[in-house]
Amino acid sequence: MAESENLTLHSPAKINLFLEVCGKRSDGFHELETVMLRTSLCDSITFAHAPAGQLSLHQTNTSAHDVPLDDSNLILRAANVLLLEQSKAVGAHITIDKQIPLQAGLAGGSSNAATALLGLNQLWNLNLPRTVLHRIAASLGSDINFFLEDCTAAICRGRGELVTPIRVGGEFHFVAARPASGNATPAVFSKLHLPDTLHRCDDVVAALDSGRVTELAASIFNRLTQPATELNPQMVQLMAQMQQTAKRPVFMSGSGSTCFVVCDTAGDAANVLEDFRTLNAVFVSKLAAA
Ligand code: C5P
Repeated sequence: MAESENLTLHSPAKINLFLEVCGKRSDGFHELETVMLRTSLCDSITFAHAPAGQLSLHQTNTSAHDVPLDDSNLILRAANVLLLEQSKAVGAHITIDKQIPLQAGLAGGSSNAATALLGLNQLWNLNLPRTVLHRIAASLGSDINFFLEDCTAAICRGRGELVTPIRVGGEFHFVAARPASGNATPAVFSKLHLPDTLHRCDDVVAALDSGRVTELAASIFNRLTQPATELNPQMVQLMAQMQQTAKRPVFMSGSGSTCFVVCDTAGDAANVLEDFRTLNAVFVSKLAAA
């Protein structure tokens, strides 16, 4: 892209419609089978050229979900790897409008990292192939690769980095809420007792393909729900409130602490959202499959 041009990209949140932990690996990670769905809830990231070697990160809406803006931020970690991977004299000023809450099981940080890889590849005219971006993504985290694929939903295996896109044959709407306290992913995994019998994602995959909301609601599963509830009493309380208010099952995304309900239509989601505004949650949002 030309030196004068900026680039703004959406960085979407995901929810997990299925998550089974198939075993513990020798590298300390867990072998997963999970179905991720890209949603309409997005951060927005703007990339602008800067003098060679300079990288900076700013957040435009500091009152919302504050993220660390130092080198620990996955956006800057991704940008630094890209600087090292190629020989061009480039730099970037990056600004983020953050809407996705942290420690929420929505992969906000991972999505931001993927968006940084895609955005800087474009801004700096690097033309790195998708395979290289996937390799860098997997070196930075387990959930980043999903967001490099141009798909609404995928089965993710391995640590989560092996992505197989699947078809979504209809509209799906959800309302999500997160209690004041978030969940730390390593703590949730370390509370887990590995299952004797594994659940499979076939029913969720079939429901997404058919577009049938009732079938989807009947097949959602998350193995991490049990250990997460042991760690986060606020989440347990919020799940009970959500269930009573919306009169339907409540599910957790990723390692939490965001929980969600399935809605029949966009109108149903709008009504549920209004009802959820009275709950003890720091974040409430409609989410559509996107
Ligand atoms: O890879 P990512 O940074 O998302 O992982 C965060 C933490 O979650 C890991 O350090 C690990 O404790 C846990 N994790 C795991 N197995 C996975 C993915 C994550 O144990 N497949």
